[in-house]
Amino acid sequence: MIIIKSAHEIDAMREAGAITGLVLEEVAAFVRPGITTRQIDEYAAERIKALGGKSAFLGYRRYPCYICISVNEEVVHGMASERQVQPGDIVSLDVGVVYKGFIGDTARTVAVGGCEPRIQKLMDVTEQSLYEGIAQAKPGNRVVDISRAVQKYVERNGFSVVREFVGHGVGRSVHEDPQVPNFDDGKASPKLRVGMTIAIEPMVNAGNPKVKILSDGWTVVTHDGQPSAHFEHTVLIGEAGPEILTCPKKTLSK
Ligand code: MF3
Ligand code: CO
Ligand code: CO
Repeated sequence: MIIIKSAHEIDAMREAGAITGLVLEEVAAFVRPGITTRQIDEYAAERIKALGGKSAFLGYRRYPCYICISVNEEVVHGMASERQVQPGDIVSLDVGVVYKGFIGDTARTVAVGGCEPRIQKLMDVTEQSLYEGIAQAKPGNRVVDISRAVQKYVERNGFSVVREFVGHGVGRSVHEDPQVPNFDDGKASPKLRVGMTIAIEPMVNAGNPKVKILSDGWTVVTHDGQPSAHFEHTVLIGEAGPEILTCPKKTLSK
C-alpha cells in the first residue's frame, strides 16, 4: 500500500529531509585518510543528535550502526569497524534520520583524497543517474520511468546497476511501498501521484552487476571485487514535479 502524505506530513518530511541532507554533507566533509569507519559512524551519531534527530537505521532489523559506510567493493550496508580509509579508497555514506516522526534517507560516495579516473567516472555517472531518475519523478509518470532513466544512463556509460537492492517509498518507515528499482524489471509499475515520497538510489557497479552478502549478514559486496558507488535522495512527487527533500538547507542553525 502506497502512503500519500498530507500537506502537514510533507512539511515534516521537508524538515527531516533537510536535517538528513545536512548530516550527510557534514559526514562527507569529515572523511579523510587514516580515519576509521567507526570514527565516521561516531561523528554521524553526534551530528544527528545535535540536530535533534535519531538514526533511522540503528536497530532497524538489528542493524548495529548509526549510518551505513561501504568502502570500495562494498555496495551498501557496510558496518563501522576499526578499518582506516586510505587515499584512493571510495566511501559510500548512507544516512537515515528520524525527525518529528518522519524519515529522510540520502547517500553519496566520496573519494578519500583523490582516486583513479575510472573510479571518479563511476561516481560521477552514479550521481548523474540519480538526477536522470529524479527528473522522471513527476505525477502521471510511473515508477518504471525512473527505473528506465537510471538504467539507460548507467549502461550507456559502461557500468551496471545492482538488481537485488532497490529504492523505496519512505515516510514514517524507512521502507514503504512502492519499490523503486534501478532497472526495468518488466513488472506492473505504479503511477506516481502527488504526495508520494520515495527514495531513489542507484547502486552502480564498475564491473559485473552481481552482488553477494558477507557472512556478517549485512555487508553487500560486488561479486567481482570491483568498486561500486551509491547516491540517494528522498524525493516528493510534487504538483509541479520532483522536489528533493534531502538537500541541506544552509539556513538550518545548530
Ligand atoms: N539506507 C538503506 C536504504 O537506503 C537502508 C539501510 S537499512 C540498514 O534503503 F539497516 F542497513 F540500515
Ligand atoms: Co539509504
Ligand atoms: Co533508501
